[in-house]
Amino acid sequence: MKETLIIEGGTPLFGRVRASGAKNAGLVLMAASIMADGETILDNLPRIRDVEVMIDILNSINVDTCWKDDGSLSIHPPAGGINKQTSYELAKQLRASNLFLGAMLGREKEAIISLPGGCDIGSRPMDLHIKGIQALGAEVAIEHGYIYARAKNASGARVYLDFPSVGATENIMMMAAMTPGQSIIENAAKEPEIVDLANFLNSMGGRIRGAGTDIIKIEGVQQLKACRYAIIPDRIEAGTYMVAAAISGGEVIVENIIPTHLHPIVAKIQETGAYVREVEGGLLVRASDKILPIDIKTLPYPGFPTDMQSQMMALLCLGEGSSVIVENVFENRFQIVDELKRMGASIKVEGHTAVVKGVKTLYGARVKATDLRAGAALVLAGLAAQGETIIENATHIFRGYENIRQKLTNLGAKVR
Ligand code: EPZ
Repeated sequence: MKETLIIEGGTPLFGRVRASGAKNAGLVLMAASIMADGETILDNLPRIRDVEVMIDILNSINVDTCWKDDGSLSIHPPAGGINKQTSYELAKQLRASNLFLGAMLGREKEAIISLPGGCDIGSRPMDLHIKGIQALGAEVAIEHGYIYARAKNASGARVYLDFPSVGATENIMMMAAMTPGQSIIENAAKEPEIVDLANFLNSMGGRIRGAGTDIIKIEGVQQLKACRYAIIPDRIEAGTYMVAAAISGGEVIVENIIPTHLHPIVAKIQETGAYVREVEGGLLVRASDKILPIDIKTLPYPGFPTDMQSQMMALLCLGEGSSVIVENVFENRFQIVDELKRMGASIKVEGHTAVVKGVKTLYGARVKATDLRAGAALVLAGLAAQGETIIENATHIFRGYENIRQKLTNLGAKVR
């Protein structure tokens, strides 16, 4: 359905906002939980659209789920086998549906996964996922938009990732966790969500070492036992509210964060002149009276996260000079530029580089969210713009930002 978010700009934000659980940890842990015998309980899982779609996919492969009164999600695979095929209808809505590939190969030694959809930020290939599971012994065929994989005689292996892909690292880790022998992932992704997955699998009896570095070693085990686990806070949601404080001229404390996860984001926001300090239970961000132009290059963790690129672009539209943003992770993540230009921004795109020439004022306009983070960035631009900004396709935003209207309203924003 078409959903719209309307923002009346010009009000500085003040107050405290609490980061929810990390979307990109929760989604992979929901997939991994099908490998466990028994009932997994996930705490701190955000109630966002992507989690709801993941629940639908779990239910479609006969895994029981239910939200408990304390806000946790119970996930209980059937004692027998699960249905090994994810449906195209559901998978096309969510890139993370591809994470069932590794989980199913780990537990069932077989998987039929619809090639995923997701945002239009790039082609989103799965060549590294397939290279990894084949190295561990899976036979793979891709037909009619599905990946058919069987791994009856899988055994541990060494896999080198040409690019430190988050999803490929996660799929290989999950398959290797229940594949006999030792596996080694080289040039692995180092994101905090990878560490959360390794900690979760180890809590279930997995034997994974080195997550968070570029070499991950996995000893396969026969069985994983269900556990209760609390998901890490969302560093991208937290970063988004930090930019909201800076762009609106206010002062906000973002609570429930893990400071090390935010280092790249804090560093770049400070370079624009904002005052950022760790306080009791969170991070305080106070806007400066002017936004300094800076250069940004997105890189795999611990580089500056691509998921914060659009949000920083919105902030730099009001900078006192020109900023250069280079997007090195996805091949097509400047969709937001045309929408920001409708609000008066001055941005020039050449391939992977965007030059943002700061302007004095942004003006409210009717704009369209093209993906989750671009949508969030339009909210940020709307907070600072003169007049009313109407964001269409706001469903994208609700995919990854829990209670965003309530959280912004509590900070004084005029949102509906
Ligand atoms: C995860 O996507 C996140 N999604 C993305 O967040 C995030 O932007 C991305 O990692 C990078 O940090 C989830 O965790 C659910 P990748 P993923 O595989 O795993 C190329 C958000 O807004 N690549 O690290 O799909 C790929 O084309 C979302 O929350 C291959 O070439 O990202 C891309 O250019 C957006 N071959 C680059 O690697 C492959 O087999 C990074 O992709 C796989 C990926």
